[in-house]
Amino acid sequence: MKILLVNGSPRKKNTFNILKTIQEDFNLKQYETEIITLSDYVIKSCVGCYKCVLDGKEKCPLKDDVDNIWRKFLEADGIVLSAPVYALGVPGTFKNFIDRVAYNAHRPLMYNKPTIIVSTTAGMGTEKVIEQLKWFEISGLKIIGAKGFMIYPIGEATPKIADSNAKSLKMLIKKLEHEMAKEKEKKPTLLQIIQFYGLKLNCNFGKDVYKADYEYFQHKQYHKEIKINPVKELFGKILYKIGTAALRSSVNLEKRT
Ligand SMILES: Cc1cc2nc3c(=O)[nH]c(=O)nc-3n(C[C@H](O)[C@H](O)[C@H](O)COP(=O)(O)O)c2cc1C
Repeated sequence: MKILLVNGSPRKKNTFNILKTIQEDFNLKQYETEIITLSDYVIKSCVGCYKCVLDGKEKCPLKDDVDNIWRKFLEADGIVLSAPVYALGVPGTFKNFIDRVAYNAHRPLMYNKPTIIVSTTAGMGTEKVIEQLKWFEISGLKIIGAKGFMIYPIGEATPKIADSNAKSLKMLIKKLEHEMAKEKEKKPTLLQIIQFYGLKLNCNFGKDVYKADYEYFQHKQYHKEIKINPVKELFGKILYKIGTAALRSSVNLEKRT
């Protein structure tokens, strides 16, 4: 099993050291691991052209490493996301990366991939970083644990903090290990089903506008390979039908479903 550890700091210090600790633990248990530092890659800023959302990611005018990094996400069995607090948010490189893969919120290719988040700070703000990184849930990651670590003075953990950090980290590692060991396909929650049908509904605004979404959803049932609770699915489908009817009457859509 493969774990991808993503360092969102432009340097290899506090946050990276935590990733190294996690990596060593998993390496001892014979997992395959890889740490990537986002700032080692070329990640251009989104230009807001909407091509990826509307026409498909291959229409993005920016040529850089984003697709290669995203492939690593797709191939991993478990993920560790990390970032230090920069002005009460994630560092710019990480935000650029999120903006560039944001189209995955419309057409998620992953499903419940076990993920943990770690963040470091000199004082405050890890909850804001964690909140931002939870965006990845909509792209199919399952965030099963998150922890902020205060590392003070900057770059140097005091023995007391280091001790409690080590305990928290062990618990987080256990959680990830436990989740990855579970049978692969976990049933979707009602919220996930509603989200799916909500996205499917969105592309009915017009296949000429949301071309890529329309293409993706026309032949797609909710993660077809996974057995889901029929009551939940019925609920999702009813919402979808009601929503489609409401849309048709409000914007006079052609019948497309
Ligand atoms: C540009 C910048 C902005 C920062 N902003 C904050 C902040 O808002 N709050 C805070 O407590 N620490 C802040 N810090 C401190 C870092 O979050 C902290 O030192 C972190 O552990 C650095 O992680 P790294 O060694 O992985 O880069 C900032 C550091 C930098 C370089």
